[in-house]
Amino acid sequence: MSAPAITPDDFEFMKSLLHRHAALVLEPGKEYLVEARLLPLARRAACASVHDYITLLRATSASYDVRQAVVEAMTIHETSFFRDWKPFETLKASVLPKLIAARTTTRELTIWSAACSTGQEPYSLAMMVRDSFPELLGWKLKILASDVSNDILAKAREGKFSQLEINRGLPAHLLIKHFERKGVDWVIKEDIRKLIEWKQINLSAGWPLLPSADLVLLRNVLIYFSNDTRKDILGRVHRMLKPDGYLLMGTGESTMNLPNAYERLQLNGACCYQPTKRG
Ligand SMILES: C[S@@+](CC[C@H](N)C(=O)[O-])C[C@H]1O[C@@H](n2cnc3c(N)ncnc32)[C@H](O)[C@@H]1O
Repeated sequence: MSAPAITPDDFEFMKSLLHRHAALVLEPGKEYLVEARLLPLARRAACASVHDYITLLRATSASYDVRQAVVEAMTIHETSFFRDWKPFETLKASVLPKLIAARTTTRELTIWSAACSTGQEPYSLAMMVRDSFPELLGWKLKILASDVSNDILAKAREGKFSQLEINRGLPAHLLIKHFERKGVDWVIKEDIRKLIEWKQINLSAGWPLLPSADLVLLRNVLIYFSNDTRKDILGRVHRMLKPDGYLLMGTGESTMNLPNAYERLQLNGACCYQPTKRG
């Protein structure tokens, strides 16, 4: 039996909670977003469904921390270092070694973290490259990180993170190796920062001219768009990916709108996509 979907009352409750606590506007039709974003919290609270979780929130005037967790789960800029962990293991164990082996002649590699939020995703990648694939530092390596929000990009570029942000996913040995204390915050060191090029790009509008990419991370952003917009973005990513390049999406996201354009691969326990090979 599948879990019950959230009800209109659940949705209204969430809308009002988010508005009261973070002035967030939850537009009609975003039930799928509530379902997707609250599922991990529901699981952590041992609820069988998001509907059950919201019922619990409604019945037990939720503590500040719980409300904060709900708001954070729904916030559009939410990110963390090595988010979901498994995809980064797959990049390290499988995707990057394959790409490096295929590019030994050109010695060029282009990676795009589209919708990079406050930078944890591209910084995680850059630390991985620096520590596990140092040979790439002598290549023509481009790690492009983009987001629609200039404010968010300014924070990302600064590379300054609170203890709370650090606690979310950054292993202690990487903190010691790649960050310096600045007051109560931590700042990423220059040798990591300089590996990343930042650019403001709105995925749902026209894109600037971009180099064809070996690897695109398009994670936890398509969920905010309509089906048509998702389809358009996935089509454009397809056109700029190299034929043997890889696309990584967020956990639970898929290219289901374009089943013939991408081949789904299961590598080291994480899912990624490659342009479908023709002929
Ligand atoms: C939830 S964060 C995901 C960050 C990171 N990719 C991750 O998975 O941790 C979504 C990001 O998408 C960005 N975003 C939203 N709409 C966008 C758009 N139209 N074009 C580019 N980025 C967008 C937001 O500003 C936000 O930083």
